[in-house]
Amino acid sequence: MTLDNLSLRLQEMVPHFSERGYAVVPVPENLYSTLLEIFIEGRYMFDAFLPEKPHGIVESADRAPTLVLGGTGFGDNRPSLIHESPQLIQILEDFCGCSLKPTYWYGPRLYQRGAILHEHIDRPLSHIISASMHVDSDLDEPWNISVESGGIKKEVNIEKGHMLLYEGVRLNHFRKAPLNGRWYAGTFMHYTVSDSRVLPTDYLELAQQAQPCFRF
Ligand SMILES: [Fe+2]
Repeated sequence: MTLDNLSLRLQEMVPHFSERGYAVVPVPENLYSTLLEIFIEGRYMFDAFLPEKPHGIVESADRAPTLVLGGTGFGDNRPSLIHESPQLIQILEDFCGCSLKPTYWYGPRLYQRGAILHEHIDRPLSHIISASMHVDSDLDEPWNISVESGGIKKEVNIEKGHMLLYEGVRLNHFRKAPLNGRWYAGTFMHYTVSDSRVLPTDYLELAQQAQPCFRF
């Protein structure tokens, strides 16, 4: 899978918020311990991980689907509190240099042996700035994520307890090497700019038209 024309146009038009478009930093300890608690309770106490509907960008072997903690039905508001916490938002605002508002969060998701992440950009209105958090894993080698912009590709290893802050429309991203190990648990936090005037009008127009094409 390669980036389609629509994604390429959005990628070209979206403003650059930081110098490189990404950074890897530790998840603050208090937030990380909560994320780990959610994961451990969901997996080992409540057995609440369910196979996730394939949505086109993650693939794995038939017998090892991606699992996700029972979504909002699980009734746990802690991920939402972390997503909206001023502490996390401040880190992301320092990274991108503008004011943000929370949009969506996902996870923890559990990827299993053989999983790959197809090359893509994120949803153009709601996923402008994001954090991909490595909660826990049992791997034989790092499951690196590649980020690419303007033809420059970097492979990034997000250590356990760390998060990749990234501009998800500006950078196409993927994990082409299949997950080598048993599993990887991640949580994903997405934000948009508080003031939409930060985004050029022609970008906003195209992003609004394009949003329904992004189902992930
Ligand atoms: Fe993504």
